[in-house]
Amino acid sequence: MLHIIWDLMTIEFVIVTGIALIFGTWVGFYAAKPRSLKGKHVMITGGSSGIGKCLAIECAKNGAHVSLVARNPALLEEARAEILKFASTAEQKVSCFPTDVSGPYEQVERTVLQAEEELGPLFLLANCAGYAKAARFEDTAVDEMKKLMAVNYLGAAQFSHAVISGMKGRREGGIVFVSSQGGLCGIYGFAAYAASKFALRGLAEALAMELKPYNLTVTVSFPPDTDTPGFAEENKEKPEETRLISESAGLFSPETVAKVLLDHSLKGKFVSTVGLEGFLQSTVCAGMSPVTSFVDLLIQVFSMGLVRLVSAFYLFKFDRIVVKCMENRDKKKRSL
Ligand SMILES: NC(=O)c1ccc[n+]([C@@H]2O[C@H](COP(=O)([O-])OP(=O)(O)OC[C@H]3O[C@@H](n4cnc5c(N)ncnc54)[C@H](OP(=O)(O)O)[C@@H]3O)[C@@H](O)[C@H]2O)c1
Repeated sequence: MLHIIWDLMTIEFVIVTGIALIFGTWVGFYAAKPRSLKGKHVMITGGSSGIGKCLAIECAKNGAHVSLVARNPALLEEARAEILKFASTAEQKVSCFPTDVSGPYEQVERTVLQAEEELGPLFLLANCAGYAKAARFEDTAVDEMKKLMAVNYLGAAQFSHAVISGMKGRREGGIVFVSSQGGLCGIYGFAAYAASKFALRGLAEALAMELKPYNLTVTVSFPPDTDTPGFAEENKEKPEETRLISESAGLFSPETVAKVLLDHSLKGKFVSTVGLEGFLQSTVCAGMSPVTSFVDLLIQVFSMGLVRLVSAFYLFKFDRIVVKCMENRDKKKRSL
């Protein structure tokens, strides 16, 4: 009898503690007030198109001054006019700084300096500039591999390097990196691209640890396929295998990705994903990444084994797609 009562008490203790923990962390994180962007300066590389432009619109809606960085001055001006329409006050500024993120570091420093002179000290840097090139590894020119690394990884590293001392001094704000689901899981046709996006995660994890004592946050977004001009360009030449595998996560709008990313960044969350597959991937890949949400930590602790099993099914499905495509190609060749 005593044994049964003891068991019941233990179960009750576990349930009550679990509920208290989840509720406490929900209050602590999800119900937490995000930092305000009112009157703050946000710099967005890749802000003239796609996810970057949508992020700029969200920042403008939230009262921020926005500096846009990209190469094409005409596209920048077009985006500037569009973003200004979403400003919540007449005092807000949106300025353009045509710069190649993979260009010389002196130019990057000049851009940051000019932007801060015009719009004030930086609160948030969002590294969105980047592109994808899908091709089998042996079909990817070595120059393309260098360019992917230079734009996707070094571009973000250069801008982060240029803003970090100022941010540390002010002890407020943060940095955002836009990686990709391809930065969590390498798939067929994305060898060179995935390497550049995995690199961003390494940079972000190390930076997060360096910046935490200075009250600065780091957020990495891992978007799935997102309906942008960049995605349309990437689709022009994509191996069948890559298309079939990556479309299993669904197609999201850049507005959704940007909205979620800004929310996560303003709440100081390290990982930002959208969709079920993104959630499953970031859970199974949590590894030693920074803990910025106890709810997420609890979910990871209790579901890691099961999610790993689910990921094995996904990988099995992906391998089948690759084999099927190879068989179809062989069949076609034989029939010629
Ligand atoms: N769309 C997707 O499905 C998807 C999925 C996962 C991750 N992502 C990542 O999300 C980010 C944004 O992608 P998106 O789809 O929104 O692309 P997008 O519509 O092509 O926009 C890319 C932006 O980056 C700028 N940019 C490109 N190269 C640059 C360079 N060397 N220097 C400065 N600016 C540069 C472009 O302007 P200029 O060309 O004028 O320079 C443009 O403003 C990228 O890092 C991409 O890898 C996208």
